[in-house]
Amino acid sequence: MTVEGQVAVVTGATGGIGLAVVAQLSAAGYRVLALGRDTSRLSELAHAHPGVTPIYADLAEPARLNSIVPNLDRLDALIHCAGIADLAEVEETTTQLWQRILDVNVVASAEITRALLPALRAARGHVVFINAAYGMTGVPRWSAYVGSKAALRELADSLRAEEAAHGLRVTSIYPAGVDTPLLREVRRSFERDHDPATSVRPETLAGIILAALRAPADAHITDLAVEPTRRG
Ligand SMILES: NC(=O)c1ccc[n+]([C@@H]2O[C@H](COP(=O)([O-])OP(=O)(O)OC[C@H]3O[C@@H](n4cnc5c(N)ncnc54)[C@H](OP(=O)(O)O)[C@@H]3O)[C@@H](O)[C@H]2O)c1
Repeated sequence: MTVEGQVAVVTGATGGIGLAVVAQLSAAGYRVLALGRDTSRLSELAHAHPGVTPIYADLAEPARLNSIVPNLDRLDALIHCAGIADLAEVEETTTQLWQRILDVNVVASAEITRALLPALRAARGHVVFINAAYGMTGVPRWSAYVGSKAALRELADSLRAEEAAHGLRVTSIYPAGVDTPLLREVRRSFERDHDPATSVRPETLAGIILAALRAPADAHITDLAVEPTRRG
């Protein structure tokens, strides 16, 4: 299905999941505004995929985002793919680390959404938050990451309730084991082997995200858990 003329904003566009989402949105005919930090990856993206505009944005500084987020008349899809997943026991988690994880994973998502709400309302658009494995709670060495994802779920649920009157749809995706640099680093840190065969391909997850966007207007996929078929 082609969606010529529709506009999407993707954060974390330079990452494993974000790259795959941008590629599939572009192939589907969306005009895509791709946010990331890695400037060479951003320009590769723009060269590789038609209709992609790269935008440098550091999400660790959410107070600056209002001036970076593009001014749009309408926005059909906002997909929050950026995230960090540093490990540390509570004893080792400094205020700086708490702040950075919360800023990148939650506060920046809230701020970008806030800046783009008028455009989303104008298009009766769709906001997608990439959360984390469904039901993940109380994980040793991961309090800040898991805490940030709990806050992200609350942000999504509140936004859905507030914006229903404007026709916005809000979807939280709860993936586990998607084969990206983040997964490989996390598995290494937890001293677990990494086997791509027991992971979800980023392209597969991107396809599932696009399927959620394509749900007919009378349906609203609120929460979606995605796990590898084969477990490691
Ligand atoms: N992979 C999995 O198995 C898995 C499972 C559950 C949840 N998730 C979630 O999925 C999301 C995407 O993860 P991924 O696996 O695709 O990870 P990834 O490959 O490491 O990509 C992370 C993305 O976040 C961006 N990012 C990080 N810090 C940033 C900052 N300060 N400012 C702007 N952008 C920043 C990176 O941009 P630059 O590279 O340009 O800095 C990159 O585009 C994350 O929220 C993660 O928690 C992933």
